[in-house]
Amino acid sequence: MSDFRYTVHPARVVFGSHTLADVRPEVERLGRERVLVLADPGLPELGDRIREALGHLAVGRFDGAAMHTPVAVTEKALALLREVAADCVVAIGGGSTTGLAKALAVRTGVDQVILPTTYAGSEVTPVLGETDGGVKTTRSSPDILPETVIYDVELTRGLPLDITVTSAVNALAHAVEALYAPDANPVTDRLALEAIERIARALRRIKADPGAEDTRADLLTGAWLAGTCLGAVGMGLHHKLCHTLGGAFGLPHSPTHAVVLPHALAYNAPHAPDAVRRIGEALGSPDAPAALFDLLVETGAPTSLRELGLSETDLPRAVELAVAKPYPNPAPLTEDGLTGLLRAAWAGERPTSGGVPRLDWLTEQVVSTLGGEPRLRQLVGDLVRRLHGFAVDNDLTQAEWQAGIDFLTRTGQLCDDKRQEFVLLSDSLGVSSVVDALTNSRTPDTTPSAVLGPFYVEGPPELEHGTDVADGLPGVPLHVEVTITSVDGTPLPGAVVDIWQSNEDGFYDVQLPELEGPVLRGRFRADAHGMVRFWSILPSAYPIPADGTVGELLAATGRHPYRAPHLHFMIAAPGYQRLITQLFVAGGDYLDSDAVFGVKSDLVVDFPAGVGTPPPGRHVTGDWRDLAFTFRIAPAR
Ligand code: BEZ
Ligand code: FE
Repeated sequence: MSDFRYTVHPARVVFGSHTLADVRPEVERLGRERVLVLADPGLPELGDRIREALGHLAVGRFDGAAMHTPVAVTEKALALLREVAADCVVAIGGGSTTGLAKALAVRTGVDQVILPTTYAGSEVTPVLGETDGGVKTTRSSPDILPETVIYDVELTRGLPLDITVTSAVNALAHAVEALYAPDANPVTDRLALEAIERIARALRRIKADPGAEDTRADLLTGAWLAGTCLGAVGMGLHHKLCHTLGGAFGLPHSPTHAVVLPHALAYNAPHAPDAVRRIGEALGSPDAPAALFDLLVETGAPTSLRELGLSETDLPRAVELAVAKPYPNPAPLTEDGLTGLLRAAWAGERPTSGGVPRLDWLTEQVVSTLGGEPRLRQLVGDLVRRLHGFAVDNDLTQAEWQAGIDFLTRTGQLCDDKRQEFVLLSDSLGVSSVVDALTNSRTPDTTPSAVLGPFYVEGPPELEHGTDVADGLPGVPLHVEVTITSVDGTPLPGAVVDIWQSNEDGFYDVQLPELEGPVLRGRFRADAHGMVRFWSILPSAYPIPADGTVGELLAATGRHPYRAPHLHFMIAAPGYQRLITQLFVAGGDYLDSDAVFGVKSDLVVDFPAGVGTPPPGRHVTGDWRDLAFTFRIAPAR
């Protein structure tokens, strides 16, 4: 468990395509009447469109926002804001324009409506960073948080590819660091993972079609979600390093994020394994840092600090600055550690979270050799992929692989015409129940099926109705009356019903060589009412055969070998699908931990105490049970 404190920041978000047109109603919704328009200096035409959309509400315009929100620029805009008596700012542009809007709001309390054109995410944070005489200060206040953010996907469709990528990685960094933030919480975790998935998906597609609406919508949604994380939890090493490199060495903001993020993630990986695993899952890879690096290479982003202009001789100073002031981060910040990180980032090396190499090429090489019948190719290809993935995801050692091979070899050696340890393995791992469900349990109006198990014997003895299949064995007498019907309830006379079960000690006859002939099994034919009736004994829980490799595995993984008490049925009727199933004794042991995962709620039934005169077929003196059940079977396919 981890404690957390979480504040939800109130902001209205309008998201869509062509939502720029909503700017006027959104300003009116805030009750504002005099707007100062702040447009990105590089996008004057967007300022014009906003002005036009606002009509007479626009009373002034300032296109001078600059990087890092210099106080001198803010003061110029502030003078204009006062001169035109604005009660609201509408900012359209990247992080700098948003920054200016925030700087004006914190000084005057004016409302802000922001239309972001990049993926900075700062529009949903209550944080403002300003520079004055080269010194950067950061502050946080509810006044800084914009009242309304209008995300218009159209505004981002033309963003150049390089800016798109680095700006998206900037957003990605917010989500990544949110997952291992000391104040992370379940809400920001979900937001961050969703952001990573969307941004990664979009970055994989962006080169092929940079203007695609879906791709841009994913990026903008991801930026919003990641920005929300940024506003809610503290950032760590990555952000600190980027600020240091930007502030002390003048490296460009977004490209620096792109270079540093995979390395910061690799650095933190051993100390935040759970977060890094989840980041990997969101990126679709067991090795998050490497996957991130590969994604950046794919999109053409910069991968080295060298190419951003940092000199190798600057590295010791960068390390010194980065360790100067301690701050929360999963991995301790050591000089040696950060030297290694920055050297690798400077040189553009591919980081990994522990050296798991990329082996997709080998997997694809194997899959590409497969030919033959399409279904077989599909199944074998997928098996190869999953087996390779299993080995890679678990960083499988040679010894573990050999242990697996030995286990399977010994499992095979236990198989003959009497014993099938592989089927038992499949049963005990739930695979048989999965295949059974896929094959047989797709309609709610038929009785569910259950696994066959190893104790069915072909050609059981044909028995008369009323026969006692226990044939004098000890146990609580059980009278069974079952009816076989079609899905609509029509009885099926002549249906063939095979039944088998264990004795009071949990053994089937085939496990007890001293028993003469078949007992506790038989074949009945349904009468004119579709009914079958016989006597037996109440089944008890029993262990599946545990003296082989399956038993070994159960013991080694801390599992018990018991099956919940049950009676087996195999039902066949011409024109109908064969039903293999079991009825479980309600209230019996192991119903919720059956060793072969065969229990389905519809098959758990009452075996109530018998009342009145016991039906013919067995002389009963004490207590007895009376089971009645109707099986509905499906027409043949
Ligand atoms: C059985 O119910 O007979 C059974 C089913 C699967 C594995 C072992 C036993
Ligand atoms: Fe059984």
